[in-house]
Amino acid sequence: MISEIEKRIKEASSFKSKDPKEIEKFRLKFLGKKGHISYFFSEFKKVKESDKKSYGLAINELKKITIAKLEESKIKEISNGKTNSKFEDLTRPVSTFELGSRHPISIIRDKIIDIFYKIGFNISEGPEIEDDWHNFTALNLPEHHPARDMQDTFFIQSSPDILLRTHTSSVQVRYMEKNIPPIRTISPGRVYRNEAISSRSHCIFHQVEGLYIDDQVSFSSLKQIILYFTKALFGKSKIRFRPSYFPFTEPSAEVDIFWGLESETDYRITKGTGWLEIMGCGMVDPNVLSNCNIDPEKFSGYAFGIGIERIAMLLYQIDDIRLFFENDIRFLEQFKGKL
Ligand code: DAH
Repeated sequence: MISEIEKRIKEASSFKSKDPKEIEKFRLKFLGKKGHISYFFSEFKKVKESDKKSYGLAINELKKITIAKLEESKIKEISNGKTNSKFEDLTRPVSTFELGSRHPISIIRDKIIDIFYKIGFNISEGPEIEDDWHNFTALNLPEHHPARDMQDTFFIQSSPDILLRTHTSSVQVRYMEKNIPPIRTISPGRVYRNEAISSRSHCIFHQVEGLYIDDQVSFSSLKQIILYFTKALFGKSKIRFRPSYFPFTEPSAEVDIFWGLESETDYRITKGTGWLEIMGCGMVDPNVLSNCNIDPEKFSGYAFGIGIERIAMLLYQIDDIRLFFENDIRFLEQFKGKL
């Protein structure tokens, strides 16, 4: 009997194969239910008492060698790449989690929010489907006022009082109606204009509106806050205020920052002037304060409006606004890690 086991030990020791079928055959032949090892174990009781010990040791030896051989063959088979199941290939790279990225508009919006949040502004929101009062009339833009044409509006034909808001300035009206000064709020959100879609303009875009109302708010506080903002966002502190017109502010201004003229891109985006317009602002018109039940004799304030797409295009050097709305993965995944 023992000599038979020894024969099998020799046979197992000399086994060599990378073929998965051969390996499986070997396993069944030795370790299977009807294989050699279980047969030898079942014969154990017939073995003479004096031989039992060496018989037992021999079977264990055979079992050990068989298992070692199987493991060795498996490793060879895997490193040879000849396995047909990917789950058995221990050398394959681990599967990775595909991490998404945040949309560039959200990234810039959050940066702007962060900058103002640090100096005490809270965040307010309003509806995108607005009424005429909040979008126009309360902002000193009565019906038939020519300045309404500055913003091509989506109206609802059967109910022209309802419209898609053309700017986030409507949120300042809502906020002033519900709160008493001091008011320090910024309102980020989506706005709509009935404009032809091109690389420079879209019918949907995003703005952040800022509003500060208190006693003794002056134009110099406005200048200071905008200087703080441009330094924080662009790292640039040369700005200028150009007189402008908005119906809801008096005086009104547009803010330019000095971008520089160092590269060809600088030339292109600043049209050779080095200056770049980034936002509109002004002192809230007393009429607007009265419309929102705030006494203009007691309080004054400033407001400003920033286009998020414009800032994102500048900071990331994106030259087509449509890219923000197409959801092309090749565009979006470039913002990975910019959380
Ligand atoms: N609502 C203006 C627009 O959409 C932007 C703006 C300008 C907002 C001046 C303001 C402001 O609050 O003071 O063009």
